[in-house]
Amino acid sequence: MDFRFTEEQLMIQDVARRIAQEKIAPSAEHFDRTGEFPLDNIRTLGEAGLMGIEVPAEYGGAGMDPVSYVLAMIEIAAADAAHSTIMSVNNSLFCNGILTHGTEAQKQQYVRAIAEGREIGAFALTEPQSGSDATAMRCKAARQADGSYLINGKKSWITSGPVAKYVVLFAMTDPEKGARGITAFLVDTAREGFHRGKTEPKLGIRASATCEIEFADYVARPEEVLGREGEGFKIAMGVLDAGRIGIASQAIGIARAAYDATLAYVRERKAFGAPIGTFQMTQAKIADMKCKLDAATLLTLRAAWLKGQGQRFTAEASIAKLTASEAAMWIAHQAVQIHGGMGYSKEMPLERYFRDAKITEIYEGTSEIQRLVIARSETGLR
Ligand code: CAA
Ligand code: FAD
Repeated sequence: MDFRFTEEQLMIQDVARRIAQEKIAPSAEHFDRTGEFPLDNIRTLGEAGLMGIEVPAEYGGAGMDPVSYVLAMIEIAAADAAHSTIMSVNNSLFCNGILTHGTEAQKQQYVRAIAEGREIGAFALTEPQSGSDATAMRCKAARQADGSYLINGKKSWITSGPVAKYVVLFAMTDPEKGARGITAFLVDTAREGFHRGKTEPKLGIRASATCEIEFADYVARPEEVLGREGEGFKIAMGVLDAGRIGIASQAIGIARAAYDATLAYVRERKAFGAPIGTFQMTQAKIADMKCKLDAATLLTLRAAWLKGQGQRFTAEASIAKLTASEAAMWIAHQAVQIHGGMGYSKEMPLERYFRDAKITEIYEGTSEIQRLVIARSETGLR
């Protein structure tokens, strides 16, 4: 056991912290209020290597390990969660699956621009009628005589859908086979047959643009299949294992920001002639916030470490995501309470942390789905 980070890990944490503090934190309120997409900030993150942290340098990434990814995500999310959502999709949901399952030509064609932050990637699994029950998808890819696929159907809640250049898409090629009838495709959004819906107004992570996308006779060429036909669901699940480490890190970042603001406030705010931090009821909240924050951080680093060792980490990623997202929600709630009226005001970022924290319990598998994954792994039962 070694609880120290390496020099490289500390370096990327430092790079992320600097950009987070100098560029992202000062603009977070603006992007939250307007819901504009923060393209300029995303380019800066890309130039610093933060849009493809685990992507090898030969494909335009920083070539770092999963622990570095966790550390960088925490810093960015602490400044603004929406930026970290965009970052997590480029890093884990888009690049990861292509690096693991893609051909050399696919890696060359799709990964570089996304890892460098010049283009934005998306991941499309969810549909209007199927979110948690992902194998109930209806989007269909019918193989044609010439080997190409004709894709028709809708995907909903697609993060970065309004701006994405490429999409990793999951579609049914053989409905009779259920999970084994799903295939992954690499989609070019500039091509005919791809349509974007309106950007969804949301409670939080408002600068992360989300929309429905639709395929109407979109033609995918044989070389645009990711992995093999029928392997799509396993690819999606494997990608989400890694993605959940990213969302856990995002939750930790939001929680840390709420916690740090609270620590400062309880020292300075006075009531009944004393700093509110001297009241035992406040102290108990501070202690519980700190315990949850540290537990979430250690569990997330464990999952990332396992991934870096090349070991299976499905359950550990779910444990990390469940613990961190529920910690973030609880800590943001307590932080608003401890700030009293100021916690409810838009003059301070506490209400934004509270709104942003909620999404971490929903996307990349709800808390109920994480519990299902963990319990199945523990009991061996289904
Ligand atoms: N890795 C590899 N393979 C896996 C796997 C994993 N983690 N989990 C399951 N599989 C395989 C199984 O071994 C099985 O393979 P066989 O057919 O060979 O036996 C196959 O996949 C089907 O598995 P299950 O029977 O367990 O599937 P299920 O229908 O019971 O579903 C589930 C399991 C965990 C509930 C899954 O559907 C799930 O994770 N649902 C949540 C969906 C989700 O997280 N969506 C996120 C969308 S992206 C997003 O949200 C992005 C964002 O916000 C930014
Ligand atoms: P449902 O699956 O309908 O679930 C409704 C409720 O039932 C939930 O509380 C759920 O936990 C519960 N439930 C369902 N099944 C079970 C069960 N077996 N046991 C116990 N409880 C259960 N998807 C993408 O593919 N790509 C993206 O980029 C993406 N980005 C998103 C961004 C945002 C802002 C949001 C809100 C969603 C995004 N999603 C994306 C979709 C997201 O992954 C789904 O919303 C999520 O997986 C839940 O699916 P659902 O909304 O259909 O809820």
